[in-house]
Amino acid sequence: MSDVDEMELDEEHAAAKDVAFSSEQKGKKLSKANLPVSAGDTLPWVEKYRPDTLSDVSGHEDILTTINKFVQTNRLPHLLFYGPPGTGKTSTILALARHIYGAHNIRQQVLELNASDDRGIEVVREQIKTFASTKQIFGASTKTDGQLGSFKLIILDEADAMTSTAQNALRRIMEKYTANTRFCIIANYTHKLNAALLSRCTRFRFSPLPIDALRKRVDHVIDTEKVKITPSAVDALLQLSRGDMRRSLNVLQACYASSTPLDDEGRPDPAVEREDITETHIYDCIAAPHPEDVQIILKTLLSSDITTSLRTIIDIKTKKGLALADLLSSLSDELERLEVPKQTRILWMEGLAEVEWRVGSGGSEGIQTGALAGAVRKGVAVMKNGRLDINPFEHLIH
Ligand SMILES: Nc1ncnc2c1ncn2[C@@H]1O[C@H](COP(=O)(O)OP(=O)(O)OP(=O)(O)O)[C@@H](O)[C@H]1O
Ligand SMILES: [Mg+2]
Repeated sequence: MSDVDEMELDEEHAAAKDVAFSSEQKGKKLSKANLPVSAGDTLPWVEKYRPDTLSDVSGHEDILTTINKFVQTNRLPHLLFYGPPGTGKTSTILALARHIYGAHNIRQQVLELNASDDRGIEVVREQIKTFASTKQIFGASTKTDGQLGSFKLIILDEADAMTSTAQNALRRIMEKYTANTRFCIIANYTHKLNAALLSRCTRFRFSPLPIDALRKRVDHVIDTEKVKITPSAVDALLQLSRGDMRRSLNVLQACYASSTPLDDEGRPDPAVEREDITETHIYDCIAAPHPEDVQIILKTLLSSDITTSLRTIIDIKTKKGLALADLLSSLSDELERLEVPKQTRILWMEGLAEVEWRVGSGGSEGIQTGALAGAVRKGVAVMKNGRLDINPFEHLIH
């Protein structure tokens, strides 16, 4: 079921709350709104707390201001939203669609296609064409009086997964139906999109969310769900999410679920107090190395010999079940904070980037752990001996 369907059903349910057993409710699809309460409780928080309105979207103030201006002036260009996962691209366009058309008209005015739909050349030609060329029967917008609501909106989510032939076909269709249709193309990477397609859209980059923006939404969920969590655990959660709101909400929900005591039959036991979620719960859930372990590894790498360093890293990795990939990013953050000569920094950056790439392309954990230790030690050795202090290109600078 697409988000649009779900949104519409949610609204229908809201409206039908007072008329509970109305016969009109029969045969409707199930959504979070008309599921029994216990099932509704298990809905992922990312969906339960998907922003309903543009003002619920955290961060991205500049983008929201511009989009609001478009709406106020009744002028909506074709849009391109791009950026890393979990930053609110899909949520923003759905909230905008809801704002323009109102929940009741969304289905007839918005066509949403994402990567799970077949989007080869046939879909672009037929489905989009049929949708874009049909005239609306009823007045479109209940919320805006101007022309904006009379446009149809086609959302092409995860468009970087579309074949390039389909993207090519889309260029022509976009031009042909501009009189009554607006497109919103959503992608993680623009380099996978056709340049001609890009030039037809107004681009908005959804950058990783800053900690404050994450905090605003996460605090809202903590309050509403009455999650017991320590302030330092919240800080760790936001830090480890690296600007991805979906990640923070998913981890928060996983920790909340694991902090809920179960009764004999394995169901949540409301009689027993929930434990506070601590920093350790968060690190364990994300499988990120605990800061104390990172400090131990850092210390040994900087001050002991290579054999001791390697043994310490392998020990901690085995005991805590850590993957080298997770260790790499935490260690790189720590190394970045140290005041060191630039030659050392260069060696560290190069070394860690190499190891990261090799781990990502399937290199052996054991061998790459050695390479990591080697890279850090190399930087330390340079610092001690000052061997690379002489810049061989110095004569060219003057
Ligand atoms: N800026 C935001 N404000 C509030 N909630 C957000 C924001 N960004 C993401 N979320 C939360 O994270 C979930 C996922 O967001 P969304 O689907 O909009 O991400 P996306 O940018 O489309 O990611 P992807 O590129 O993976 O599709 C939403 O359901 C919402 O709960
Ligand atoms: Mg999305």
